Amino acid sequence: MTAPTLDIHLTDDDLTAALRSDARRGLTSSPKTLPPKWFYDARGSELFEAITGLPEYYPTRTERALLERVVGEIARIARTEVLVELGAGSAAKTRLLLSAMSAEGPLKTYVPQDVSVSALRGAAAEIGREFPGLAVHGVVSDFTDTLHNLPRGGRRTIAFLGGTIGNLVPAERAEFLSGIAAVLEPGEQLLLGAGLVIDPEILVPAYDDAAGVTAEFNRNVLHVLNSRLGADFDTDAFAHVALWDARNEWIEMRLEATRDMTVEVPDLDLTVDFARGEQMRTEISAKFHIEGLSAELASAGFRTEHVWTDPQDRFALVLAERR
Ligand code: SAH
Ligand code: AVI
Repeated sequence: MTAPTLDIHLTDDDLTAALRSDARRGLTSSPKTLPPKWFYDARGSELFEAITGLPEYYPTRTERALLERVVGEIARIARTEVLVELGAGSAAKTRLLLSAMSAEGPLKTYVPQDVSVSALRGAAAEIGREFPGLAVHGVVSDFTDTLHNLPRGGRRTIAFLGGTIGNLVPAERAEFLSGIAAVLEPGEQLLLGAGLVIDPEILVPAYDDAAGVTAEFNRNVLHVLNSRLGADFDTDAFAHVALWDARNEWIEMRLEATRDMTVEVPDLDLTVDFARGEQMRTEISAKFHIEGLSAELASAGFRTEHVWTDPQDRFALVLAERR
């Protein structure tokens, strides 16, 4: 067994510089916003893992059950030699793909990519132990701007699971999908996991659980601003809000100031006022219709080869070929 490698294309200093720029833009805009990638420091990645086990949070177990059912078919169609996984996190469900792709033949290399070095380090080490014949090369980078750094050599499948595609706003999504198409050769594949539009009575609780884990995950972005930029957010003074935006067909998570506040962000030399009741958007989680998703993939240069859904049509796995 060769030990897993970890390529760091985003150092701690790069992350701080990117956070400074996002925080300045987001905290000085009206309404205020923060991008969701800043949820995922070590604590945020752990909170996300806790979310995946919540009774209300159906996406992870639905995608897992779907993968269990169709993974052999995916492996046979894709004939993957190199599996690249964007936003891999703990790569818990990926084991299913790795087993099936190894059993079906040619898989040689697994390349998990994530912005969270803690999640990636753990996942790469564990998978290296569980799959001793597999070369594991972790990549720490931002999937919205550094795809060209991903290793080549061998027939590739890029997996993007969990519905993370829905965390990009439509313009980012189009750029992201075109960026993936640009690094793939014709005939190589994208395996996309996406949440589908379903009843808001099921969707909203999935993002507003009774135990308050998602609320803590949401507030974690403020902890990150406090620890990385020296800000003095009173995180308990922000309430978690999750709502279904029917027009855009996305869940929107916000943080609402429960009192008037003035927050100092010394690293940005910035003072930010919040009025009681003011809401700041921290994440969207778009849900899709299959036809819309296939159309977006087609515009980016992919041909949808196969779509699998769970029995309740809550989640889809799409295998798309680079044209
Ligand atoms: N794929 C896993 C994890 C989903 S959580 C699953 O299906 O359960 C989303 C993951 O994407 C997190 O691990 C987070 O760190 C990562 N992520 C979010 N924004 C990112 C970005 N811009 N670049 C790279 N990784 C990102
Ligand atoms: C990572 N991503 C797909 C999750 C989602 O469902 O949009 C993040 C999340 N936000 C709140 N709960 C989970």
